[in-house]
Amino acid sequence: MGDDQKLRVQRFRVQCVPPITAGAPPMGWNKDCNKQVYVRPPPWSDSLPTIYAITPTYKRLVQKADLTRMSNTLLHVANLHWIVVEDSESKTSLVGDLLRKTGLKYTHLNVHETENITSRGSRQRNLALKWLRDNFSVNDSNEGVVYFADDDNTYSLELFDEMRYTKKVSVWPVGFTGEMRFASCKVNELGKVSGWVVVFAPNRRFAIDMAGFAINLKLILSKSDVNFRLFNVSRGKQETTFLQRLVTLSDLEPKAANCTKVLVWHTRTSEPPNIQSLGDPNIES
Ligand SMILES: *[C@@H]1O[C@H](CO)[C@@H](O)[C@H](O)[C@H]1NC(C)=O
Repeated sequence: MGDDQKLRVQRFRVQCVPPITAGAPPMGWNKDCNKQVYVRPPPWSDSLPTIYAITPTYKRLVQKADLTRMSNTLLHVANLHWIVVEDSESKTSLVGDLLRKTGLKYTHLNVHETENITSRGSRQRNLALKWLRDNFSVNDSNEGVVYFADDDNTYSLELFDEMRYTKKVSVWPVGFTGEMRFASCKVNELGKVSGWVVVFAPNRRFAIDMAGFAINLKLILSKSDVNFRLFNVSRGKQETTFLQRLVTLSDLEPKAANCTKVLVWHTRTSEPPNIQSLGDPNIES
């Protein structure tokens, strides 16, 4: 158990020890507690590989709503380390306070994108990769998996179980992407990925959405020069350009029942229409 996690458990015990009496209030409540203890990710386990979820984020009307919804999902996931990278000149209190209050294990970074780059989020994802490479070495015993989890997607909890034991790169379908109800991976009778079921740019070697794959941490650490391109990469090609430098098609591990289950959706929160007033600027929303 990490130190932060121990602290959180301790705080939980001090504030709200669940009573042992009959007719006890539901787990997480007691007579001295009028608030549910929602700061409670599953206890850290030294035997489970860690999932490093990398989330680029930027200021917009729905940012806090998106991050709140996502953190509520991540609170159910064991051994998850959330790396949130803001596209901002400095770390904002909106994101910082939110992260602190979740009780999740997290790292908060920021880097501001000033240039007109080809794909949003690339510089932020690269900073997170650098953080991993600066903080872990291939020779460490810690097992882990890296997942690029944007803040506007919807994640099933099963997805995290599917990706946790990724050996090199695992793949699965993604809902509402690739100009389809879901984009998917083709799996042959040997259980190997043989291609892609997509409408958009089907000739990409890895025709897959950012939310559709996870990478073993050691692979990320050992290929230390593999990053997302900032320039000269056309729409929808960022993922394939990145993955081509890490693996071949035959290395891919199909998950989600041989790519037959949709466990993540590229939902995208729409901007609220018709906002007539921004109200008190001191109130976060
Ligand atoms: C995936 O397909 C392979 C080959 O048909 C099969 O052996 C395997 O059991 C399947 N796995 C799942 C989880 O359905």
